[in-house]
Amino acid sequence: MNDKRHPGLTDRFGRVHRDLRISLTDRCSLRCTYCMPADGVPWLARETMLSTDELVRIARVAVEMGIDEIRLTGGEPLLRPDVVDVVDRLAHLSGPLGRPEISLTTNGLRLPSLADALHDAGLTRVNVSLDTLRRDRFHELTRRDKLTETLAGIEAAHASGMKPIKINAVAMRGVNDDEIVDLTRFCVERGYQMRFIEQMPLDAGHTWDRQQMVTGEEILAQLTEHWTLTERGDRGAAPAQVWDIDGGPASVGVIASVTAPFCGTCDRVRLTADGQLRACLFARKESDLRALVRSDATDEDLAAAIAACLQLKQPGHDIDDPGFLQPDRPMSAIGG
Ligand code: 5AD
Ligand code: SF4
Repeated sequence: MNDKRHPGLTDRFGRVHRDLRISLTDRCSLRCTYCMPADGVPWLARETMLSTDELVRIARVAVEMGIDEIRLTGGEPLLRPDVVDVVDRLAHLSGPLGRPEISLTTNGLRLPSLADALHDAGLTRVNVSLDTLRRDRFHELTRRDKLTETLAGIEAAHASGMKPIKINAVAMRGVNDDEIVDLTRFCVERGYQMRFIEQMPLDAGHTWDRQQMVTGEEILAQLTEHWTLTERGDRGAAPAQVWDIDGGPASVGVIASVTAPFCGTCDRVRLTADGQLRACLFARKESDLRALVRSDATDEDLAAAIAACLQLKQPGHDIDDPGFLQPDRPMSAIGG
């Protein structure tokens, strides 16, 4: 543990939190089947969304407590009109461990016009979601015919100098599990890092099925048929288990959230676009920081609320427990 951090960032199980994920909006320009329904998404009400001043204030208090990594998520974070300004302001925060590193998870569609400005504002790295390289399939899966635009976005991020470029794919049986090798090859050839994610029960339609899920082990079995993989040891709090491909430097990662949970080393806490702090993706309780920032609460009050929220954090997600309940919010309203 680093004793420069506020003791409130350590939870009951000794996990020290250093990574704040902020959802900038719950809206999205795609409708991925595992995330959103085709239409009729119950959007967060405008007046409940944090203003940029409110959001930056909460982030400042968190950074002053010792958070040193901020990831911007959504929905699609690049749909927030002032996203470049948000990045700029967050990148200039400073705490006991210095300035936070800023990263972003995006569908890539707005990167062609924004990548350079984002990089200049202090965005050092990016994760782009790409589940398939086939146009028809992309259209079916995201309900939008936008593969070309997504690929252009990835290239724009690369050209802007952001590094590393990580590509996320949720592996789905009978949908894209025949593209595991193709997606990995696409990344190896371009110097990107491929990350496969086990599908989690976070879809708005509540259709997730444990038996249907493609497991990390199955993904690995496909990869080892094509390459020699050497496991990297230094995982830390990272969700991905990473393997060097044919001795490196190319690598591939698997995020086996369901079959090999990494809750024991979790250092993440999430702020939703409407100002609710969640100690876990699957948390059933939230802390209302919006109400606090809209009252006369001091920074100390905010820090105390952040600490109190982390004290409620459970040891794990219990997806396999018969009593598991999917969170009320879909992924798009929590943020990856
Ligand atoms: N399970 C796993 N990953 C998901 N994502 C969205 N929904 C799910 C889910 N149910 C991923 C997206 C994106 C990141 C924000 O989270 O593909 O890469
Ligand atoms: Fe949008 Fe990401 Fe959800 Fe797809 S997974 S609909 S890109 S928020």
